[in-house]
Amino acid sequence: MVSLIRVGSVVLSVCALTTAALAETVTVSVDARAAGRPISPDLLGIFFEDINYAADGGLYAELVQNRSFEYSPLEQPTWTPLTGWELIARGGAKLKWEVDNSEPLHPNNPQCVILKVNAVGEGAGIANAGFGGIVLREGEQYDVSLFAKHLFKGDRWSQTANEGDPAPLVARLETANGEVLGEANLGAPTREWTRLAATITAKRSDDAARLVVLMTAPGGVALDEISLFPQKTFRGRKNGLRADLAQVIADLKPKFVRFPGGCLVHGHALNNMYRWKDTIGPIEQRRGQKNLWGYHQSVGLGYFEYFQFCEDIGAAPLPVVPAGVCCQNAAHRHGVGQRGIPLDQMDDYIQEVLDLIEYANGPATSTWGAKRAEAGQPEPFGLKYLGVGNEDRITPEFKERFEMIYRAVKAKHPEIVVIGTVGPFHEGEDFDAGWKIADELRVEMVDEHYYVAPEWLLANTRRYDAYDRKRSKVYLGEWASRGNKFHNALAEAAYLTGLERNADIVPLASYAPLLGKLGNTQWNPNLIYFTNTAVYPTANYYVQQLFSLHSGDTWLEPGVSGGEAANAIEWEKRGFAVSAVRDSRSGDVIVKLVNTGADAHTLNVRIAGAGSFAKEGVKIVLTGDPAAVNDAKTPRAVVPQTTTLAVGEEIACEAPAHSLTVLRLTAKR
Ligand code: AHR
Repeated sequence: MVSLIRVGSVVLSVCALTTAALAETVTVSVDARAAGRPISPDLLGIFFEDINYAADGGLYAELVQNRSFEYSPLEQPTWTPLTGWELIARGGAKLKWEVDNSEPLHPNNPQCVILKVNAVGEGAGIANAGFGGIVLREGEQYDVSLFAKHLFKGDRWSQTANEGDPAPLVARLETANGEVLGEANLGAPTREWTRLAATITAKRSDDAARLVVLMTAPGGVALDEISLFPQKTFRGRKNGLRADLAQVIADLKPKFVRFPGGCLVHGHALNNMYRWKDTIGPIEQRRGQKNLWGYHQSVGLGYFEYFQFCEDIGAAPLPVVPAGVCCQNAAHRHGVGQRGIPLDQMDDYIQEVLDLIEYANGPATSTWGAKRAEAGQPEPFGLKYLGVGNEDRITPEFKERFEMIYRAVKAKHPEIVVIGTVGPFHEGEDFDAGWKIADELRVEMVDEHYYVAPEWLLANTRRYDAYDRKRSKVYLGEWASRGNKFHNALAEAAYLTGLERNADIVPLASYAPLLGKLGNTQWNPNLIYFTNTAVYPTANYYVQQLFSLHSGDTWLEPGVSGGEAANAIEWEKRGFAVSAVRDSRSGDVIVKLVNTGADAHTLNVRIAGAGSFAKEGVKIVLTGDPAAVNDAKTPRAVVPQTTTLAVGEEIACEAPAHSLTVLRLTAKR
């Protein structure tokens, strides 16, 4: 609604959402005692993929970029194994560096850097500025570690360096101008690859610091896996996650976490698939590889860390493994199109999938359960879902391999819910062919994906009402409206009312993608944006959060009447959607009202069975300009506002223009 106001002699027109016309009085009726329809307890989860620097340079708290000297021009044309590193030669220092792969730290980590120092001068070594500057906080502790090997006289490596006894290496935290913010003696290397480590306390905060490793005497040294971690990771985990980012994710209270993707799962070629065994164990023994989104994946955030994060935030793990084929679409990223693992290698591949289940759920005495226990988790991780395939083209090659994996997993682990794949769209050839396979094999769940216009979501809130309850259930594994404006978020809220209504057959749903590092995105929109120092939850995030925090296990059919529309379906067509749920554990009933229109509505919410609720409930409203975006300039443009709610048989309130309103009726305790 537009109002005119006069300031001095100037008349301004103001778009005042809060003064929008109270167009109609809508009556919403909810029977709090109704039997209702079951809602899956895991309905809302998250989709995590290392896209947009979500893992390396993002959630994974490692502060050093290219710590193992494995960057390659195949990942980015200008990259070399020394990308991210700088040679330091201060005040008379004389040294050279080169990349070597003749005596690797581990076959999965083939390259290292060699320093040959003839004079240390005022500083001879190498420096790394992380992913666009290392963020240090005053008084906090940082764990530095590296693998080093001294190059003795006679070593092939040491021919041009002065010989000498191994001297200690020093690690420093410095500002970009070389001011020292902390320093530690790492000790001297030996002739064998040895891990050297120390803790440094930052003297003051800096957002653009560097890690510098210095030699203290002439000689030669090989260095690899140079790492710097804040001790303050999420839940204090070693090799852990960035605390602020992980906390914002945890605040969604996701019921499950899908990982590690996305297209990253099947990779751009057969040798680029995400193979879980390459991502566990000591970090220096993991096999990093090209990330098909155009950078490097260190896999420091690997399967153990994903499972551990799920455990830490109380979410069910939902790993997705390749269905024995690589991505059909990745040709433009040096891919080859869809290819299948040769059939004579499929037994090994299937065993790898079965081993994953043992790694997650087997006793600590089993082969793979023992590796989990060794990593610090003797208790099983409680895996119950397993995705096989991601948006693959449904070809005969795919079908053959999917079926082999599916049958083998179900034969050995009938308790695991295997999730099939039905292509990248909400309809079409792959969608139909994927569903056909699901029908034939009686796959219990399939993974639907769609990124659509907000108008599509608004027009399709009833999509799943018509789904055949006897067919496979649906995991809506990737979905979003195309944008981060509040209007997009509201369309998602309206769609979520449809998911709650149909959560008997859509037991799982995850918005995608989750994270985007500003300046490093390959995909927009995302649910959460971040920089090295800040985190920006979008309006879409708050919608997901409100539905997640105020979920229930029973859907209660709301009656919607009044005004010019006859019933709930008619009201939805006019942009007003309602969902009501009961949470049996607390006894609370939650009513969600989504008004995507430009007019506010007066609401009369009638509650049958209101006597079982406390007189004071909670009202949470998310409203704002439909064009608003929570970005770095206006990070809190649209955030939820919580007030108290007077609860009785008739609750009078308002659904503001462009709003999601959550009414929580608290059971008398
Ligand atoms: O979410 C981003 C990408 O979208 C995923 O990697 C892929 O599965 C989909 O196409």
